[in-house]
Amino acid sequence: MKKILITGGAGYIGSHTAVELLKAGYEPVILDDFSNSQSSVIDRLAEIIGKDVICYEGDCNDKSILEKVYSEHKFVGVIHFAAFKAVGESTIEPLKYYRNNVGSLIVLLDFMKEKGIKNIVFSSSCTVYGQPDKLPVTESTPRKDAESPYGNTKKICEDILVDFVKSKAGVKVISLRYFNPVGAHPSGKIGELPNGTPNNLVPYVTQTAAGIREKITVFGDDYDTEDGSCIRDFIHVMDLADAHVKALSYLNEQDDDFYDVFNVGTGNGNTVLEIIKTFEKVNRIKLNYAIGPRRVGDVVKIWADTKKINTVLGWHPKYTLEDSLRDSWNWQKNLIK
Ligand code: WQD
Repeated sequence: MKKILITGGAGYIGSHTAVELLKAGYEPVILDDFSNSQSSVIDRLAEIIGKDVICYEGDCNDKSILEKVYSEHKFVGVIHFAAFKAVGESTIEPLKYYRNNVGSLIVLLDFMKEKGIKNIVFSSSCTVYGQPDKLPVTESTPRKDAESPYGNTKKICEDILVDFVKSKAGVKVISLRYFNPVGAHPSGKIGELPNGTPNNLVPYVTQTAAGIREKITVFGDDYDTEDGSCIRDFIHVMDLADAHVKALSYLNEQDDDFYDVFNVGTGNGNTVLEIIKTFEKVNRIKLNYAIGPRRVGDVVKIWADTKKINTVLGWHPKYTLEDSLRDSWNWQKNLIK
């Protein structure tokens, strides 16, 4: 069975991707330092999949751990999720972000070249677009100056990958630009596990619904949108996981020295207030929220043009926004049991 290294595979998107990889006939080999995830996720994955998942604890910045994993499991491809991702924290500790997010990619690419491992799918983000001038964004929408060191690490990593491919290193690369991942595995056994106070909207919503947070603050309702709150493209994490599987199989068909980039979103935009109201409707819960000041660095509105991923990878979202908000709440309820 084709083994695929998943760096950060115990994380939110990595764990859901491990499930989808197995369903597609791959063998995931997880490498995670558990700095921003919990090792219990590996047990939950075993419950979902019905067998143990190969997992190593370690930092993919450390070449010796890559050597060890490869000596025991000759993986033929990599999905590189491992990165710090807190926008706010990145402005306080930029070097931590550049060292980890950029440094780990360089170590990984060096290792892949040395061993002749050809396929890598990179976890990028729509944050590289900043505030687009035209919506929806396509893959040729110009990238803008990042609003944070976190966003800049994504841009830099994309540039490193492009240059590495141009150097005829013999690799094949796809960068997936995620929009806003939400939801959880329908089993309720895995989902988003924010450390401390959630930065992101939906985990804050579910924790408020669970009584862990007193209320949600909507960061501004005076923007130029239908209800004044920001617009995002919220994509179910299972759909996002499926996009990685389709990207891998597409890479298998390509020649060496290949690079491409795909937006992964639903193609629809929803406002923050719509998320709150849809959550209330779907889960029959009243949420406590108040309008607060705008959050510095927020993009006002962004959603994806998904024609390219639909036609080239044959990928289409299967889950609705209602599914995402139902699954997020189901997961939160399991967390507080
Ligand atoms: C969404 C909207 C907030 C919390 C960031 C990164 C992106 C990716 C996902 C890592 C915004 C509003 C939020 C709250 C609110 N990062 N909001 N009250 O900022 O679109 O994207 O996280 O994977 O790369 O840029 O996501 O969920 O933080 O915010 O009103 O308590 O919800 O203002 O408009 P964002 P988010």
